[in-house]
Amino acid sequence: MTSGAGLPFALRAMRPDDVDGVAAIEGEAFSDPWPARAFRDLLRHPSARLRVALEGGTLLGYCVVMRALDEGEVANIATAPTARRRGVAALLLDDAMSALARDGVTSLFLEVRESNTAARALYASRGFRAVGRRRGYYRLPDEDALVLRWSAPPVEPVATPTVPPATS
Ligand SMILES: CC(C)(COP(=O)(O)OP(=O)(O)OC[C@H]1O[C@@H](n2cnc3c(N)ncnc32)[C@H](O)[C@@H]1OP(=O)(O)O)[C@@H](O)C(=O)NCCC(=O)NCCS
Repeated sequence: MTSGAGLPFALRAMRPDDVDGVAAIEGEAFSDPWPARAFRDLLRHPSARLRVALEGGTLLGYCVVMRALDEGEVANIATAPTARRRGVAALLLDDAMSALARDGVTSLFLEVRESNTAARALYASRGFRAVGRRRGYYRLPDEDALVLRWSAPPVEPVATPTVPPATS
């Protein structure tokens, strides 16, 4: 379990008994929601990382990321409508990005509805930039997706100390 600095909620791995609550938030958050089965299947997927945010025993949000070698994808993230603008998604996303970066992921991708200003602001605040568009990607309603990418900052070369020539 991890906690956000100064924030009243905590994060932990999603468990099978969270799925009904997660699916309830999903149903409120999206017009074309993932079914509960999709979360259950991903809990068994070795490349998926699913985390939930909780306050006391109350589920506030969740995040699903996938990893393939040095690339990752933010597959899903949502906060319960009553818990929005309190930093839940930011904490979940920061946690996912740190974990993926620790595992060697250097690029993260995601799709977002062009009209989803809240999500786009969240991603922009974490350094994601638009790199493409998928025409007609979403339904209910039909809409283009923007493809966003985050790249890990280049690793600075470690300065090697100059060793003076040996004197004999
Ligand atoms: C997008 C979503 C996940 C944001 O969740 P949240 O927990 O409310 O976000 P946070 O409180 O962590 O916000 C972090 C930052 O994102 C941006 N942001 C979040 N919601 C915003 C909004 N409604 N308008 C403008 N900026 C917003 C802000 O920069 C915010 O920082 P600030 O509050 O210090 O200004 C939430 O609105 C949601 O569940 N939407 C429906 C599902 C969805 O669209 N998921 C993304 C699919 S790609």
